[in-house]
Amino acid sequence: MISVRLGNPTDAGTKPWGALVLPVVSTPQVTSVSPPPECADEVFAFLADDERAGEAGRVSSFSRPLHDPSKILLVGAGSGDSKGWRKAGGALARAARDAEVTVLGLPREAVVTFAEGLWLGEYTFRLGEPRAIDEIRLERVMVLAGEPSDLNELEAGLDATRVITRQVNFARDLTNMPSLTKTPAWFVDQVLSQGVPDIGATVREPERLIEEGFGGIMAVGGGSAHGPRLLELTWSPPGATKHVVLVGKGITYDTGGIDIKPLEHMQLMRKDMGGAATVVGATLAAAQLGIQVKVTALAPLAENMLSGSAWRPGDVVRHYGGLTSEVHSTDAEGRVVLADAMAYAVAELAPDVILDFATLTGAARIALGKTTAAIFTDNELLAKSMEQAAALAGENVWRMPLADDYLKETIAEIADLNNAAGNPGAITAALYLREFAGTLRDRWLHVDMSAPSWSAENDGELRKGATGWGVRTIVNWLSEGVQALG
Ligand code: BES
Ligand code: MN
Ligand code: ZN
Repeated sequence: MISVRLGNPTDAGTKPWGALVLPVVSTPQVTSVSPPPECADEVFAFLADDERAGEAGRVSSFSRPLHDPSKILLVGAGSGDSKGWRKAGGALARAARDAEVTVLGLPREAVVTFAEGLWLGEYTFRLGEPRAIDEIRLERVMVLAGEPSDLNELEAGLDATRVITRQVNFARDLTNMPSLTKTPAWFVDQVLSQGVPDIGATVREPERLIEEGFGGIMAVGGGSAHGPRLLELTWSPPGATKHVVLVGKGITYDTGGIDIKPLEHMQLMRKDMGGAATVVGATLAAAQLGIQVKVTALAPLAENMLSGSAWRPGDVVRHYGGLTSEVHSTDAEGRVVLADAMAYAVAELAPDVILDFATLTGAARIALGKTTAAIFTDNELLAKSMEQAAALAGENVWRMPLADDYLKETIAEIADLNNAAGNPGAITAALYLREFAGTLRDRWLHVDMSAPSWSAENDGELRKGATGWGVRTIVNWLSEGVQALG
């Protein structure tokens, strides 16, 4: 348990300080920190020796036995922008685990972002147990400048952030779970047992998937002993005027199928349902926050296995609605399940917008690096509003082209589409998906999040492992961006 008290240096009531945390804001020109008089000399002397103390997410500390404060932790907040405060919160959550600390000199506008960092950075994988978020107590908030103010004034912002970070951490839990446990049915059970009120749920099992023509989901899931599912969640507030469909790739394990992956590429493939976890987390958060937009989350869930009943290269798959795919690689499975879900959304749900989130291609990571998701859309307003929502969340996106030059490569010989048209891999995957947006192709946006869905290290608000990437971007976009579309 970590207990955080946020204090004002002029307020005698905060003493004794105990372990005192001082944020350090630094630009190339100046480093600023506001220690209380009793330890100011030591803090400035310490800082003079540690030029890097202001780097966002860096924690340095020294002890002062028999004094108050008895320990000083300096937490770097970079230039003091929201990314810096989020990283500072995340790093502090780990450095001060099981401690009681007082944070001094947090600017008022940084409090909510700093708390977001704390709640995300503290995360540890422990599905089913109470969330540690509830154990991080922000006892009092007093801002550095001006008169002390209490938690009440910031409460609405903190409450919303608590809800959202819980769902980010739920998405992380789902994604971190090993696939021996994480079958499609297990994923569904976890989501339904969250017990979020006012959420409608429909679960399609294999029999119904076959009956209704979801040939893509059935093909990809056919090789596994754990049958596929299509999970449909609905949040439908009475006054909503917009309907957004969120589709998330839910491959509970990706062996590559008959086109089997080498071990190094397969090792982490339990994370291949990160898109489904993200759209589920965002939808539950939207309901808990009462966002006035109708949201349907579709999670096609399947394990891409190899066995006597597995799909094969050269097969032709018939999707929901009738379009067909020729299988050029059983390792290009994500788009094949997404295709069914998108076609279903277009035919049956009459949405205003379709957004899909998927750990779709290694190529997206090669193009954009380890923290940036690729976004694809023909709709300028949708691109801009998504860029804004992501920037506000501190999640990185970069728009890539739906380059028509490669359209002919996505066409197959004995079927409508080739599921593995090859390089440029992220673009041909997006072009393939666009065919399933049908009449809504100008109201569709695709997010290839294979890189940022996972972090190789603890870094600010990120923990090593699943990141829950996208939940916060989607919530921001539902709150603001969807209205921009008109
Ligand atoms: N799940 C993978 C993509 C992936 C790779 C996600 C690395 C996260 C990290 C996807 O199903 C896949 O295998 N894609 C292939 C496509 C190819 C066969 C056309 C790829 O990217 O190599
Ligand atoms: Mn694959
Ligand atoms: Zn995959």
